[in-house]
Amino acid sequence: MTKIRNKKLTASSKKWLARQMNDPYVARARQEGYRSRAAYKLLEIQDKFTIFDKNSVVLDLGAAPGGWSQVASEIVKRVVALDLLEMPSLPNVEFMQGDFMNENDIQTLIQLLHNEKVDVILSDMAPNTCGIKQVDHLRIICLLESVYDFCQITLKPGGILVSKVFQGGSCTELLAKMKQHFTCIKHFKPQSSRKESPETYIVARNYHA
Ligand SMILES: C[S@@+](CC[C@H](N)C(=O)[O-])C[C@H]1O[C@@H](n2cnc3c(N)ncnc32)[C@H](O)[C@@H]1O
Repeated sequence: MTKIRNKKLTASSKKWLARQMNDPYVARARQEGYRSRAAYKLLEIQDKFTIFDKNSVVLDLGAAPGGWSQVASEIVKRVVALDLLEMPSLPNVEFMQGDFMNENDIQTLIQLLHNEKVDVILSDMAPNTCGIKQVDHLRIICLLESVYDFCQITLKPGGILVSKVFQGGSCTELLAKMKQHFTCIKHFKPQSSRKESPETYIVARNYHA
């Protein structure tokens, strides 16, 4: 276990750095050329659920720094990706910098998709947290609701949604609504998702209007 002894760093920076240095997925991502350890979460999801193939068109929401886009673009026909942050270009990925919660950005994204529906929507978006539990929870629900609304505009019949959700947050009502439009919804926590993180993923299959 590597310990960080640099006196100039704050305790939380030391903790973050030590976690990065001791994380096997961070090391593996570096060796295998993935931009983030998050790539392994999508690889596990693909391994278990086979969410896309060589003919798929995939929309990657909250894509930066690009691990999920890399994994998808190694397999599928087309990847369109969006993030608030800049993302250096990747082969076979059309990237747009923008805010998924901004109406104008959404319109631009729809144009980038040439008004065509996609086979798979991925959302690894996580809202910025402020530390106030109720506010943070509302932001998470609001983001997930917007992703779900967006499915109704851009997901093909039979399409798949993979979205990050947070354990402990009450998404019950929203999941009940989603069950009316997806034949099957599974919860999955990949091995590569940190045990201490409340994140988990839903894999919702076979979208219908
Ligand atoms: C956990 S990271 C995604 C990691 C990525 N899946 C990968 O494999 O590298 C979450 C991302 O969601 C983005 N994000 C959060 N809210 C967003 C929003 N409203 N619109 C667009 N991107 C957003 C953040 O900027 C951040 O880059």
